[in-house]
Amino acid sequence: MNNHNPESTAKILIVDDDPRIRKMLSQMLATRGYLALTAGTVAEGLAMISEHLPELVLMDYQLPDRNGLSALLEIKERYPSCYVIVATGRGSEELAVEMMKAGASEYLLKPFDFRIILERIDAVRKLREIELANQLLNAEREHLLHEIETWNRELQFRVQEKTEALQRAQTEIAQTEKLAALGYLAAGMAHEIRNPLNSISLFTQLLAQESEEPENSEYLGKILKEVDRIDGIIHNLVDAANRSRLVVDDIRLDQVVYESLLIFTPQIEARQIEVSFNCTEVVPPIKADRTELEQIFTNLLINAVEELPPKGQLSIDVSLPEGQIAVRISDNGGGISSEHLDSVFKPFFSTKSRGTGIGLPVARRIARLYHGDVTVETTSPQGTTFLVIIPREQHKHL
Ligand SMILES: Nc1ncnc2c1ncn2[C@@H]1O[C@H](COP(=O)(O)OP(=O)(O)OP(=O)(O)O)[C@@H](O)[C@H]1O
Ligand SMILES: [Mg+2]
Repeated sequence: MNNHNPESTAKILIVDDDPRIRKMLSQMLATRGYLALTAGTVAEGLAMISEHLPELVLMDYQLPDRNGLSALLEIKERYPSCYVIVATGRGSEELAVEMMKAGASEYLLKPFDFRIILERIDAVRKLREIELANQLLNAEREHLLHEIETWNRELQFRVQEKTEALQRAQTEIAQTEKLAALGYLAAGMAHEIRNPLNSISLFTQLLAQESEEPENSEYLGKILKEVDRIDGIIHNLVDAANRSRLVVDDIRLDQVVYESLLIFTPQIEARQIEVSFNCTEVVPPIKADRTELEQIFTNLLINAVEELPPKGQLSIDVSLPEGQIAVRISDNGGGISSEHLDSVFKPFFSTKSRGTGIGLPVARRIARLYHGDVTVETTSPQGTTFLVIIPREQHKHL
């Protein structure tokens, strides 16, 4: 006898109201190594299925408590991995077909032929194995497809991120190049323009000395003032573009800010600007070039002063966040409009009739040389705060 063939220790449930058939079938199945379970009604059968989850159910169509078709539908609905073979009386082949359509895997005609029963059980078990394996593969495939899709999305996202970073870097390079080009241009221009400018200035001064007409003197004075302004612009351009030679020292940033502020004392007093300077911590010195750092703050302070109304408020705040030195320069001027906010650090962007638009790009370029940055922290019609961050540790870049 082929009793406990491990291949066949499958559970098979027999549902039949005839105790003799149940006994006969379960003995036959047991001799084949199956674990046979039995039930006399559909209700009992469903309880057994829920408890043991057999591979196969051999179910008589004619059962006392319930119609065979509805029992079959319920089993297939609730336990799809449970395959059902339906037994009908001979002459009810049409019924058998109907049951197959409703989800039965096979049918048997009564009275039973044991050989056929075993053959069909084998066939259905094989079919079940293949179908379930197939389902698993499909589920796996779905899962993999889903994963691939997720990776794809992630990849697209990263590519997008990198592209944007690249674009930003390119824009920055373009802006740095603009500033570098400006250096050459400014140096050449300074040379070419300053000579005639000196002559204009000289002759105007001569004329002014000789002129007796007060009106003429006034005009000559204005010419001299404008000449000075041109000279100032050239000076600024040359300054902005050149990283003139470095003198690296131990520099305290709070002192640099304070000294830069002093340059503006005349304007501040004339316009009665209220200044507050807050620095409550001892700022550690950093290795830096004083003139360069001054350029950052003079550019930010002059913008603030230019923006402020008479009696406006200028506040400077120095603090020490982790590893850094932060300087905030705030004014209560009119703020930067949202349409201009993206442009203020671009070289030559200016909303001022006499602005060159190099103050902010230069300030930022220098801060970045020190691995720091200049940003607009907040801006609104009530005022603007620029934030300068400089790391406390300065390495080799100088
Ligand atoms: N504190 C501020 N409040 C409002 N707007 C500001 C402020 N600082 C800068 N801006 C805006 O940013 C623009 C660019 O500033 P930036 O200092 O680069 O050039 P500029 O001041 O116009 O000219 P330059 O500094 O070369 O004389 C300014 O024209 C102005 O519109
Ligand atoms: Mg400026």
